[in-house]
Amino acid sequence: MTAPLIDPFARPISYLRVSVTDRCDFRCVYCMAENMTFLPKKELLTLEELDRMCSTFIRLGVEKLRITGGEPLVRKGIMTFFQSMTRHLDAGTLRELTLTTNGSQLRRYAQDLADCGVRRVNISLDTLDDQKFADITRWGRLPQVLDGIDAAQNAGLRVKINAVALKGFNEDELFRMVEWCGSRDMDLTYIEVMPMGDLGNEDRLDQYWPLSDLRARLAERFTLTDLAERSGGPARYVRLEETGQKIGFITPLTHNFCESCNRVRLTCTGELYMCLGQEDMADLRAPLRASDDDALLEQAIRNAIAHKPKGHDFDYSRQKVDGQMTRHMSHTGG
Ligand code: GTP
Ligand code: 5AD
Ligand code: SF4
Repeated sequence: MTAPLIDPFARPISYLRVSVTDRCDFRCVYCMAENMTFLPKKELLTLEELDRMCSTFIRLGVEKLRITGGEPLVRKGIMTFFQSMTRHLDAGTLRELTLTTNGSQLRRYAQDLADCGVRRVNISLDTLDDQKFADITRWGRLPQVLDGIDAAQNAGLRVKINAVALKGFNEDELFRMVEWCGSRDMDLTYIEVMPMGDLGNEDRLDQYWPLSDLRARLAERFTLTDLAERSGGPARYVRLEETGQKIGFITPLTHNFCESCNRVRLTCTGELYMCLGQEDMADLRAPLRASDDDALLEQAIRNAIAHKPKGHDFDYSRQKVDGQMTRHMSHTGG
């Protein structure tokens, strides 16, 4: 038996998020600069290397794999990678293979993803208003994403909508969003905006809409019951008794969930980030490329996990932003 991955704070690491590209067909304002410089293709792990990385993590006890980006579905040949991961689902060593996507390419790929054993997808969508959608994503168009969502549901995929809660932007759409998700039988999760990326001309503090406030507004119209169930990520869920639907809250700011962190993040160049909100990372590409045997890689992974920090330092509480990361969200994949 291989020893499982346990970090210095006794947290078992069972969830790997893998960013397969830093590119995206959108330019969401809280995620990327408008003119991003992307990595040269030769820096990226090949699909075969991604397979080796993931397979090694699975051997070390990772049971949940979430593919992210950038936008994972714009990576050329990515379906080959999904297909290759199916073997771990079949073997029962991998419990969940899933992805977080902006939805733009789902019309094309939803059925293939379902055929690869993907059962649910998280789709990022902050607004149902065409103009606001175009504004916040800069390059995205809402009808394409709505069409992608239809395709996902038609392929039998369970859909969770992820919305970043933004003050003055989507506050007024809270109930519309809840109703829309309810009517389509989709779960909905709100995320507090995190201070990542180049904050030169935008201020996250101005955009910050605490989920404690969002929750209080929901409670004015619905009876909320806290649920004990978890989807393996940081979201905490409530049920709206009147409709039966589930709403999730991801609250890095108002409620730090780091004590139960079970995940690490691999970037498309093979850097392993031990925390979304810290700079610590380990290069896994060098040990991977140094030998065909996975022993070096395994050792590098164990060394990295031994340095996993306790948590992030994001903080807006003193009317200024603390713990800010210059890294863009697209670098580590959310
Ligand atoms: P499920 O629980 O499987 O549905 O997924 P998840 O919530 O782990 O994944 P998802 O991609 O939906 O995560 C949504 C967002 O939550 C991410 O894009 C991040 O912005 C945030 N998030 C996820 N994990 C962490 C974490 O460890 N720390 C912080 N600060 N934010 C996280
Ligand atoms: N704060 C919170 N969430 C963010 N995302 C991207 N940037 C940020 C940020 N600064 C979310 C996206 C998507 C996921 C990958 O991360 O909306 O749901
Ligand atoms: Fe692309 Fe997602 Fe970042 Fe938006 S949040 S720019 S869709 S990677």
